[in-house]
Amino acid sequence: MAINPKIEHLRSLREEAKLGGGLDRIEAQHNRGRLTARERLELLLDRGSFREVDAFVAHRTTDFGLDEKKFLSDSVVTGWGTIDGRLVYVFSQDFTVFGGSLGEVHAEKVCKIMDMAMKTGAPVIGLNDSGGARIQEGVVSLGGYADIFLRNTLASGVIPQISAIMGPCAGGAVYSPALTDFIFMVKGSSYMFVTGPDVVKSVTSEDVTFEQLGGASVHGSTSGVCHYVAENEADCMFLIRKLLSYIPQNNMEDPPFAKSADDPLREDESLDTIIPDNPNKPYDIKEVIAKVMDNGEFFEMHADYAQNIVVGFARLGGHSVGVVANQPAVLAGVLNIDASEKAARFIRFCDCFNIPLVTFEDVPGFLPGTGQEHGGIIRSGAKLLYAYCEATVPKLTVITRKAYGGAYDVMSSKHIRGDLNLAWPTAEIAVMGPDGAVNIIFRKELAEAADPAAKKAELVQMYREKFANPYVAASRGYIDDVIEPRETRPRLINGLELLAHKRDSNPQKKHGNIPL
Ligand code: HXC
Repeated sequence: MAINPKIEHLRSLREEAKLGGGLDRIEAQHNRGRLTARERLELLLDRGSFREVDAFVAHRTTDFGLDEKKFLSDSVVTGWGTIDGRLVYVFSQDFTVFGGSLGEVHAEKVCKIMDMAMKTGAPVIGLNDSGGARIQEGVVSLGGYADIFLRNTLASGVIPQISAIMGPCAGGAVYSPALTDFIFMVKGSSYMFVTGPDVVKSVTSEDVTFEQLGGASVHGSTSGVCHYVAENEADCMFLIRKLLSYIPQNNMEDPPFAKSADDPLREDESLDTIIPDNPNKPYDIKEVIAKVMDNGEFFEMHADYAQNIVVGFARLGGHSVGVVANQPAVLAGVLNIDASEKAARFIRFCDCFNIPLVTFEDVPGFLPGTGQEHGGIIRSGAKLLYAYCEATVPKLTVITRKAYGGAYDVMSSKHIRGDLNLAWPTAEIAVMGPDGAVNIIFRKELAEAADPAAKKAELVQMYREKFANPYVAASRGYIDDVIEPRETRPRLINGLELLAHKRDSNPQKKHGNIPL
């Protein structure tokens, strides 16, 4: 039977839209080792679930001869689909059309799906591959970006917003992702910068490559702008799907429950000996996390940035939890500027989206020194304190070893609404470590001692016996229980179940004033 010519016309328009900037540019994109906007969506979404909107939209600009260069869909593919059967909204910028740059209609398309996501309470995932504001459209492009920035901000804390950086992204194409909850980058092929190497050269005379200026390793380990670094584009889509499995659709829902074959009552004897006899010796907190969580799985975020604190998602008895843990194996687990900010942001995400927090604490304190003081550790440490204080999700804490000074207060202590605070018998909870404490409170005795070194050793031992244990805190109820390390998993799962219907709130206000 002959096909209705109108249907044939529709089909040809769809085919035209699928070609983006044309076959040559698709080939160029592939030659750069990158996929096209549509190929990426196929990898991200459940097979056959993508529904495109606004495929027939084209730009309305006539300046710079642009009326001769029109492309259906313009430089972004938008719509919705599912991931593991759950609705998500997506936009995928098309570098083959004006370098994925954002003009008036590109912005309108992105705003449309963001508005739909807000109305229906589903995450937005943006695959960014764009040179930023479309230069030929001038201020209209800037206005378009501002429309998106506003929506990013209003959606923050209501629906999860996830950004993947898939190519060279500049200007607004990095500021919009920066307003979202998570940024993924791809090793060796994705870049983020406010302005590219050419502009850098003309302004500062600096010669710098894309990679040095804003590659995945720079943002994954130095700036901390990027949360997850993927090996390649397919891995990036896999990681986004995995992240979604831990988080809810919106702030009114609980995160997905995933029944686990791992016994909730499982104890792990090896935890009883994981803390070294020498309190100055490190151990890997990630080993503790793996032994406690369902199937040993931990989806770590910011794995290469501020490694003295570890954050990420895991499951306990099937419940999704956000894990925050000092890492004694890096800088003795000390809290510095980067670690404080890394953890604070993660805690606030979990609190927005009803994900309980599990804190493993082994921290000698805040890092001293002019570098940190002049860099604003007071303000950064306050961010972490603020984030924990403000959080109303269930908060469970396990002190494995050191909990000294301000860091004791900060790391989800009882005083700042910790719901279940447990300590291992190896815990040392005091104002400061024995060495520093003895130097200060016994300064005179040490100065007058015939053998200062022997005197100091004696005083340190005395201090350690008196204060470097969990029982002083436990005798005041600051610690709910001292547990055998092997019991950690069942005790935490029991705590989560106990707190499943926890209700807590903060005073009514427009919003707090976190020390930014
Ligand atoms: C229009 C653009 C464009 C843009 C790239 N193109 N960026 N067209 N507006 N912003 C076009 C190029 O002209 C080229 O078209 C094609 O996209 C591919 O670009 P190339 O330069 O050939 O690719 P590459 O060498 O990979 O470099 C990519 C790039 C670079 C790093 C993104 O193009 C670049 O530096 N672009 C400008 C970035 C920028 O400064 N944007 C404005 C930001 S201001 P042809 O037809 O030649 O192939 C902004 C304000 C927002 O965004 C507000 C923030 C708060």
